[in-house]
Amino acid sequence: MGARMKSPPKTFHVKSFGCQMNVYDGERMAELMAADGMTATDDPNAADLVVLNTCHIREKATEKVYSDIGRIRKHAGKDGRAPMIAVAGCVAQAEGAEIVRRAKVDVVVGPQAYHNLPRLVADAASGTATLDTDMPLASKFGALPARRKVGPSAFLTVQEGCDKFCTYCVVPYTRGAEVSRSFAQVLDEARALVDAGAREITLLGQNVNAWEDADGRGLHDLIRAMDRIPGLSRIRYTTSHPNDMRQGLIDAHRDVESLMPFLHLPVQAGADRVLKAMNRSHTRDSYLRLLDRIRAARPDIALSGDFIVGFPGESEAEFAETLSLVDAVGYAQAFSFKYSSRPGTPAADMDGQVAAEVMDDRLQRLQAALNRDQAAFNAQAVGRTCRVLVERRGKLPGQWLGKSPWLQSVHLLGDYAIGDLIDVVLTQAGPNSLTGEARVAVAA
Ligand code: SAH
Ligand code: SF4
Ligand code: F3S
Repeated sequence: MGARMKSPPKTFHVKSFGCQMNVYDGERMAELMAADGMTATDDPNAADLVVLNTCHIREKATEKVYSDIGRIRKHAGKDGRAPMIAVAGCVAQAEGAEIVRRAKVDVVVGPQAYHNLPRLVADAASGTATLDTDMPLASKFGALPARRKVGPSAFLTVQEGCDKFCTYCVVPYTRGAEVSRSFAQVLDEARALVDAGAREITLLGQNVNAWEDADGRGLHDLIRAMDRIPGLSRIRYTTSHPNDMRQGLIDAHRDVESLMPFLHLPVQAGADRVLKAMNRSHTRDSYLRLLDRIRAARPDIALSGDFIVGFPGESEAEFAETLSLVDAVGYAQAFSFKYSSRPGTPAADMDGQVAAEVMDDRLQRLQAALNRDQAAFNAQAVGRTCRVLVERRGKLPGQWLGKSPWLQSVHLLGDYAIGDLIDVVLTQAGPNSLTGEARVAVAA
């Protein structure tokens, strides 16, 4: 821990890793520092303060923090600068003071304490490393400044933390217990986001469908209230746990037009013995029956999931059950990972840790199946007319990139603006995106 005084930073750069919740937190930290008089820069090498907003989910993600710190230092050393480094996010929460010892950073701030960032940075400027990994009872949200300008598709965290304790996962330890923000606070922020330019809002939470308030309202009540916000055309939510998928939410998929037909519902594995060892508390069959009910309510819903291969003790026959579940569901897209042993989690001490080459092989086979289904899902969309939200410019002149209701990327050519909602005919499909031709521009 150096005792050298540093001048208070004037410019900052926030780099977020990990899930959408971290992206949201990164935006809020940037707003906080801007409100405190600092200026954001896109160039981490020019910033007086670099905030690394970190992810602890797999070993690789955690190690990335330390290599990033080394890179920042090395580059700054070349021009004789000594930028301040703040480590935020889930690694900050998990490793705390260990990061200061190992990497001599200036600030360590956990996901529930980042509203204190300006004060921690000011204290650190006096030469002493500062650390705040408290999980206070009062939520940080009330202490954050108003939302600034945002893009057409915005994130809004409504629920944080996790009480599920899947045996492989660090999130319950890094993010704490499940907490829901209040109905009024979420609606206020949703309106502010729409005023700041959002046409689509994705509600976020580690278990977003567990959102509930003191009056017993659930996520579907929030969605129905948001549906009435003028100017808000699209609502999404992620990530959901199969056990919190209540009938009210399924009904909302049938009734609420602005609720997009897309659901990310991680299953993790296809064999009941593995699911039990993971402490997932759903079975293969209960998951498939749940999907039947969701598809009955919204037949065109696009399904997405997360998978882990090589959980301790997973046999070839059990892995084959994951492949057959994938065949049975037909996911529109999905994420798949090799199991990564995380310190402090129950699975780290389980027998039967699977060899790296076996995991590599299973991941390859699983991804081949998921890629096949994603390509098929995209191909069957060709010929459909759908509404696309224009999110950014493409690489070619006159090209734009937007999203279909089913969260597919759609390329368009024409004279549009970011935030336009365009009715298009989908004309061509690739593995990761589609091409569309405009029909008519529509108002919000
Ligand atoms: N419910 C959470 C899940 C967070 S982690 C959410 O809101 O997104 C995202 C995914 O990472 C999990 O669904 C799981 O598939 C994967 N994951 C979590 N811990 C892991 C580990 N130790 N090794 C490999 N993958 C892991
Ligand atoms: Fe992790 Fe399981 Fe909680 Fe998701 S539900 S964050 S995988 S413990
Ligand atoms: Fe990573 Fe934390 Fe999100 S561990 S996935 S940044 S909740």
